[in-house]
Amino acid sequence: MNNEPILQIKDLKISFQSGKRFLPAVDGISFELREGEILGIVGESGSGKSVTSLAAMGLIPSPPGKIETGEIIFDGRDLRNASEKDWLTIRGNQISMIFQEPMTSLNPLFTIGNQLIEAIRIHTHFSKTEAKARSIELLKLVGIPRVEGILKEYPHQLSGGMRQRVMIAMAMACNPRVLIADEPTTALDVTIQAQILALMKNLNQKTNTSIILITHDLGVVAEICERVIVMYAGLVVEQGDVRTILKKPQHPYTKGLLKAVPDLKGKKERLLSIPGTVPTPGTVVQGCRFAARCAEVFEKCKSEIPDLYQSEKDGHEVRCFLHTLKEEGDEHVGVPS
Ligand SMILES: Nc1ncnc2c1ncn2[C@@H]1O[C@H](COP(=O)(O)OP(=O)(O)O)[C@@H](O)[C@H]1O
Ligand code: SF4
Ligand SMILES: [Mg+2]
Repeated sequence: MNNEPILQIKDLKISFQSGKRFLPAVDGISFELREGEILGIVGESGSGKSVTSLAAMGLIPSPPGKIETGEIIFDGRDLRNASEKDWLTIRGNQISMIFQEPMTSLNPLFTIGNQLIEAIRIHTHFSKTEAKARSIELLKLVGIPRVEGILKEYPHQLSGGMRQRVMIAMAMACNPRVLIADEPTTALDVTIQAQILALMKNLNQKTNTSIILITHDLGVVAEICERVIVMYAGLVVEQGDVRTILKKPQHPYTKGLLKAVPDLKGKKERLLSIPGTVPTPGTVVQGCRFAARCAEVFEKCKSEIPDLYQSEKDGHEVRCFLHTLKEEGDEHVGVPS
């Protein structure tokens, strides 16, 4: 991995029309994906994670969606100006995406072989024979056993884990520079989840493809990501190196998410979830958006909006007043006033 960004998102705002109003789903987020890294985006359902990644694929449905402001810079070029024709060459070839439920992305009426060959031929000038050879190579790359047999099978004949491997193979068909995986293991049981994560790490190392891994589970991030962005209600609330954040989360929301991580060693402990829910777009919230659920809320939080503060030391970013108080050397440790 080097430090050059392959994808930069700058002050991105995306809203969806509801009646006459446009409600913000992503409210000015910025981050970068570096060449060859695995970046995690974590947050509960409704935080704006999928909308952000769809924007990077040119797939925001419009209407009702609209990119209000911001830049999506891929390999030095702002994709907000890309035409639909440009997107057809970018999607799949340069930036690929896999989703949570592979059954909805695979066509039940065609064999795995047919679908893979078709996906390859859309993006290349390969003959059928060449595309078949590439399919076999790809299925081997994603660790599928008895490849020749699988090519002749239909999606419903495969287990959830195998279907997800096929989807990853399809997404990798044209050696994309960026792979976006949106909750790729959420529908899978824990053992298979670990295998799919190991596969993604392995692909990243073998092919140097940069990966964005979207999940609601910090445990998944801990497995394979180097850096993580924590999103809440359309905003980035914490961002930094995974090890630092897992060891010493700064934002009360990240601390809550960490308590909700299932025990990966298989012990069945009760999960502590954060009480309450993410405010839906358009909900008027005064002050910090997390205040209603925050265990460390104090008076200022209810009227003022915290900025994203960046630590000069390591670039770690936190959107919380407690952080500024600490930086200023204040004794305050979040006692409600
Ligand atoms: N197609 C859509 N139409 C209207 N609103 C949408 C649409 N997609 C997403 N949204 C809004 O954007 C918010 C964030 O959605 P999403 O990015 O899917 O969250 P996440 O992936 O973090 O669970 C949702 O709460 C919803 O209000
Ligand atoms: S700003 Fe206040 S309410 Fe928001 S996360 Fe920090 S302590 Fe909690
Ligand atoms: Mg989502």
